[in-house]
Amino acid sequence: MTYLIPLSRPLIGRPEEKLVVKVLRSGKLARGPATRSFENMFARYIGVKHGLAVCNGTAALHLALLAHGIKTGDKVITTPFTFVASANCVLYTGARPVFVDVDRETYNIDPEKIAEAIGRDTKAILPVHVFGMPCDMRPITELCEDHHLILIEDACEAIGATYNGKLVGSFGTSCFSFYPNKPITTGEGGMLLTDSNEIAAKVDALRNQGRLGGDWLSHELLGYNYRLSDILAAVGTAQLKRINSVLRRRQKIAETYSRHLQGTDVRTPPMTQGRSWFTYVVEVQNRDAVAMRMNSRRIECKPYFPPVHLQAPYRALGFKEGDFPVCEEIGKRVLALPFYSQMTEPETRLVVSSLRECLSRIGD
Ligand SMILES: Cc1ncc(COP(=O)(O)O)c(C=O)c1O
Repeated sequence: MTYLIPLSRPLIGRPEEKLVVKVLRSGKLARGPATRSFENMFARYIGVKHGLAVCNGTAALHLALLAHGIKTGDKVITTPFTFVASANCVLYTGARPVFVDVDRETYNIDPEKIAEAIGRDTKAILPVHVFGMPCDMRPITELCEDHHLILIEDACEAIGATYNGKLVGSFGTSCFSFYPNKPITTGEGGMLLTDSNEIAAKVDALRNQGRLGGDWLSHELLGYNYRLSDILAAVGTAQLKRINSVLRRRQKIAETYSRHLQGTDVRTPPMTQGRSWFTYVVEVQNRDAVAMRMNSRRIECKPYFPPVHLQAPYRALGFKEGDFPVCEEIGKRVLALPFYSQMTEPETRLVVSSLRECLSRIGD
C-alpha cells in the first residue's frame, strides 16, 4: 500500500547529492577519506575519541560485544523492550541475554531490577535508549563499576539525547544506527564509538576481515566485512551537518502531537528533558484494531515493539509469557505514529484527527 502519511521518511537534499557525487568522482569508494571524515565528525559530535563506521547498527553491536571479549558461556543484561537486534547480537557471540523488565514510564530497563539479575557469568550491561529516551545512566554506570561489568550502550535510536547534560553514547562503548527511519540516515549504516584505543583497533580489524593492519591478505583474527562504503559515509556527513535543526524539528513535531492529543484516551510519551525523538509512540486500548483502521486510511502506524523474549528464537530458549509483565503490558498497547523531520503541522493534525475517529469507532 502507498501511504498518504508514512511512518517515516528520510530527509535527503542537495547537500547529500553533492557530497555523494564528489565521492563517486574521486574513485575512492571504500576505506577512503569520506569514511574517515564521517567517523571523526560523528565522534566529535558525541564527544568520544574514536568513531568506527560500519554497515549497520546490528554490526556495531555485534562488534562491540566481540571486541570486549563476550563469548559462549557469558551473560549480558539487557531489556526485552527493544528492537530484536539488541538481544540477537548477544546470541551471535554465543553468550546469553539476561532480560530485566522495564520501567513503566520510560520503557527503558529498570535500574532497580538490574542488581538481582547480576550473576557469576554476567560480563556486560547493554542498556537501550528506547525511542530516544535516555536510560537512567547513573545507577547503571555505578553497577558496572561495582561489579566490573562492561557497559555497551545501544544508542541506535537516541542520537542527540542527553542524560544530565551528557550525550548518550558517551558513557560506554556505544552503537548507533543510520537506517532510513532514524533522525540521520545513510540508507544502511551504523557507528561504534569508544574512548579505548585497544577496542577501536580490535573493531577496526574485525570489521575489515580480521586484518590487523599488515598485509591485505593476512587475516590475524576471524573477521567480518562490516565496512561502510565511502558513498554512504558522504550521505552521513551531509546528514550530520544538519543534526541540530533536525533534532529541533523533531522536538517540535512531538510537542505538536502531544498538544493535539490532549483530552483523548491516548497515553502520550513523556516529554522528559534531554530525550531526543526517534519516533512518537503512544499507548491506546484495542491497539491492533486502531492500527488496522489507521492503516486502512493510509496512515501508517506500527506496534513498536513486541517483546523480544516472545519472539520465536527466544521462546525456543525457554522465555514465555509472564516473564516480564511490564514489558508485555506496554507491548500490547504501544503504537508508533508517523514521525519524520519534514512532517508538517497539517500532516500531524490529520494523523491526530484520524486517530480520534478510529478510537471513537472502536466497538461499532
Ligand atoms: C534499538 C535498536 N538497536 C539496534 C538496531 C539495529 O540497527 P540496524 O537496523 O541499523 O542494524 C536498531 C535499528 O532499528 C534499533 O532500533
